[in-house]
Amino acid sequence: MSVKEIFETMEYGPAPESAAEALAWLVDQGARFGPFIAGSFAPPGILFETRNPATGEVLASITQATQDDVEAAVAAARRAQPAWEDMGGPARARFLYALARLLQKHARLFAVLETLDNGKPIRESRDIDLPLAVRHFYYHAGSAQLMASDRAAMGVCAQIIPWNFPLLMLAWKVAPALAMGNTVVLKPAEWTSLTALLFADICRQAGLPDGVVNIVTGDGRVGEMLVQAEVDKIAFTGSTEVGRAIRTATAGSGKALTLELGGKSPYIVFEDADLDSAVEGLVDAIWLNQGQVCCAGSRLLVQEGIAERFHARLRARMDGLRIGDPLDKCIDVGAIIDPVQRDRIAQMVAGSDGTIHQTAACPEGCFFPPTLITGLSSASPLMQDEIFGPVLVGTTFRTPSEAVQVANDTRYGLAASIWSENINTALDVAPKLAAGVVWINGSNMFDAAVPFGGLRESGFGREGGPEGLAAYTRPVRAPERLAPIAPLAGDESEPQPVDRTAKLYIGGKQARPDSGHASNVFDAKGRLIGQAPITSRKDIRNAVEAARAASGWAAAPAHNRAQVLYYIAENLHARAGSLAALIDRLTGGTDGADEVSLAVSRLFSAAAWADKFDGRIAQAPLRGAALVTRAPCGVIGAFCPDAGPLLGLVSVMAPAIAMGNRVVLVASRPFPLAALEFAHVLEGSDVPGGVVNILTGPHVDLAPTMAQHMDIDAVWSFSGADISEAIEQGAAASLKRSWVNDGLARDWWSPEGEGPEFLEQATEAKSLWIPWGA
Ligand code: NAI
Repeated sequence: MSVKEIFETMEYGPAPESAAEALAWLVDQGARFGPFIAGSFAPPGILFETRNPATGEVLASITQATQDDVEAAVAAARRAQPAWEDMGGPARARFLYALARLLQKHARLFAVLETLDNGKPIRESRDIDLPLAVRHFYYHAGSAQLMASDRAAMGVCAQIIPWNFPLLMLAWKVAPALAMGNTVVLKPAEWTSLTALLFADICRQAGLPDGVVNIVTGDGRVGEMLVQAEVDKIAFTGSTEVGRAIRTATAGSGKALTLELGGKSPYIVFEDADLDSAVEGLVDAIWLNQGQVCCAGSRLLVQEGIAERFHARLRARMDGLRIGDPLDKCIDVGAIIDPVQRDRIAQMVAGSDGTIHQTAACPEGCFFPPTLITGLSSASPLMQDEIFGPVLVGTTFRTPSEAVQVANDTRYGLAASIWSENINTALDVAPKLAAGVVWINGSNMFDAAVPFGGLRESGFGREGGPEGLAAYTRPVRAPERLAPIAPLAGDESEPQPVDRTAKLYIGGKQARPDSGHASNVFDAKGRLIGQAPITSRKDIRNAVEAARAASGWAAAPAHNRAQVLYYIAENLHARAGSLAALIDRLTGGTDGADEVSLAVSRLFSAAAWADKFDGRIAQAPLRGAALVTRAPCGVIGAFCPDAGPLLGLVSVMAPAIAMGNRVVLVASRPFPLAALEFAHVLEGSDVPGGVVNILTGPHVDLAPTMAQHMDIDAVWSFSGADISEAIEQGAAASLKRSWVNDGLARDWWSPEGEGPEFLEQATEAKSLWIPWGA
């Protein structure tokens, strides 16, 4: 073709990147890899092949790690951890910096190897995966340097990652873990282990102490072994199904867990959007990495009036997409990771009842054409299930509120894009979307400084920024085992001395328990004080319903919530004498007055925090800035500590409601009556009905119901009863957040009983990417 002809057609010519250096590296390594343990590659064991998905060619053979390999890797990480932590943040920062420099120096090799192994276009591995991975190590070199002195490392972290962003997910996991003084055992996905193995080589070049980074290769069985191993924390990115299995497998183990799972993220186009930009944004949203992206904008919602025009422009753009050899720099869409996935995608598309448009020019082999399916209803399986391929499904909406409703009609909650030239529309809709990340007039923007992660079945925990670091540290303190407190005993046949049966507090009202049952409460001398209701499942349901209905609390200005908390404090203070006497009588102690006074102080602290725990603006090196906001979790179910029947309850309640949550509290098991007395204080304090609900009864019996309830967003336990496992098990079904004590004590009379730890647990970091300075 002559230059003149090319000029006329504007046809691209192929511009393939050379694979020579990457192939030579594989040959140098013998193209057979053992696991990387304690600073060196173990001899290869039972091998499986890893292939180039674009050609089907075998690239190398990789070891299916054994139980012994996993144990050796964890042991190496354990041995290396104390010295790695003790060397201090600034010393670790040097290593992270060195890793960043080396990644940068070998960027081309990494990018080509990634494209060979994964099938993603070289343009993406070169311009997105690599720079972001490098940026992660630089950013976290800084995190190590600045690590707060009141935080300690978790210890040994198991990190299990998927195949869609092999090196980038490694960076997201390894960099913050190392920065905070942890050592790691990483398991890459079986289809894409090569860049992790090249990274191991880089760790050696950086002089990283042996055992700080260990890599075990193999399939899900190796992941399972790692989950069961003696590790302190597990970080997983992958399918919701496996995330749920890991939550179940680790319930009650005391291992910390973060899960970054699937999504079905809405891409909302309003009629006042810049349509060409919105079409271009979609190319990134759904065709980046062939749509194999957890936060892909895979659900297109277009305002009705522009739908036809928008779809027409989109179809025209799709017809111009170039699909083919991922090493070609002119390619937009590369290969699907494996024929198994391609067939899965094809099968899902074949079952569609919508109108299908596909890019015509799609090569044979492990490729799938960009696909648009319109005219679906929100309930259609393709609108609900993650396809994880280059398939965009869509429907239309009429009004902004309908857009929000359809957008949130999903079991996931990872990301969302909003397209509108109207700042009011965009900023009105953004906070209403159930998503951990919202891009305004953009999509798929990421940065190390900006937290990323989801809600609902998209998992819990954040990666990136200080919010992400929280998952890799714990407060510096040596927790002791919790000693449960038995209720005081007495003569069960004694008649009721007072003519008042305590009631539950539900929806702002005293409520008789549905079961009609109550248990006797005695004082230290064995005298009957009164009766505490035994909560039934129905009572829990009623309380949750009341809490759900009180959603206005989340929208109330923080200033107003603070005023209510101050008012509760004031009223509690006014009743201090009688409550202190009751507490002393209930517990047989003498510090009731101190307890009430500290509870008043906790309310003041929470009121103070209400309008001060307010997020930040993250500086990403992109055309945009991210507002990192703190949204309430929603409805929190919480089991209160045995000790400090008033202080414990107030310490749990106050920060939760200060942040805009509604709570269903189960009072101290041995001393329940103080909580129900406190309900009278709430009644007179302008707390809207349903914001606080108080139940009493055996924690062990109530824990599963609370944890499994689909309308509760997070469950906390500070109970003296052994219910951590029941809660983590129960929470697995809906993948709700849980915060449990694992049988460890907390000193509610010390600053451990309040502060940012509670506020972090009471909120979801939500990153709003907005156009900024552009
Ligand atoms: P997967 O969740 O099975 O694999 C992710 C990682 O977990 C891999 O390293 C795998 O070896 C490991 N793994 C598998 N089973 C395990 C177990 N029982 N215990 C511990 N680790 C285990 O994802 P897969 O099969 O590769 O993809 C299936 C679907 O998952 C995709 O079609 C997509 O819908 C979703 N997915 C979502 C990702 C995300 O980023 N959210 C990434 C990859 C897949």
